[in-house]
Amino acid sequence: SPESKLQLVQRHIRAFPDYPKKGILFRDICPILKDPAALTAVTDLFEEHVRKNHQQVDLIVGLDARGFLFGPLLAQRLGVGFVLVRKKGKLPGTTISVSYDLEYGKAEAEIQEDAVAPGQKVLIIDDLLATGGTLYAACELLGKQQADILGCMVVIELKEMNGIDKLKSHNVFSLVQY
Ligand code: PRP
Ligand code: ADE
Repeated sequence: SPESKLQLVQRHIRAFPDYPKKGILFRDICPILKDPAALTAVTDLFEEHVRKNHQQVDLIVGLDARGFLFGPLLAQRLGVGFVLVRKKGKLPGTTISVSYDLEYGKAEAEIQEDAVAPGQKVLIIDDLLATGGTLYAACELLGKQQADILGCMVVIELKEMNGIDKLKSHNVFSLVQY
């Protein structure tokens, strides 16, 4: 039987032990980007999920840096805009920021104050969900902007880290789970 889109995506994720620190198994999505068919499959699967589960979406919000690789492709498919949540100190103008913990460090996330209008329906996208710290921080930022958060979407979910518990009230969709 022909390979499914999901199998194509799974086949383009590599694992590197002890990166960036001892004990971390790093899931690398670079092979997806290197293969146009695999990248198209990711975008197709996200698009299919959105069309099936959300009637109206106003914006896709992508997380620095790997959410920027998938978010704009999906936004273009849906015919909506793309907004950036960046690591602190990278966005001009008035910004809102929040600090958070990662699987292997600490960071601060920032968004432009005028990026999202109150009531806008947003979907947040990133490559991977680990502890959920990053997506939680993004939800906090968007909550401050009174966005209507429809859900979060990731290529990979690391289930043993229970990131989904941190995002309790928000629905999370992932393509591949480990
Ligand atoms: C990684 C990954 C997610 C986040 C997931 O990004 O791309 O954004 O960690 O971890 P969490 O669920 O525990 O928060 P990282 O901060 O390493 O930055 P990068 O995308 O710039 O490499
Ligand atoms: N971000 C947080 N944890 C990660 C992991 N194990 N692999 C890749 N990116 C990550």
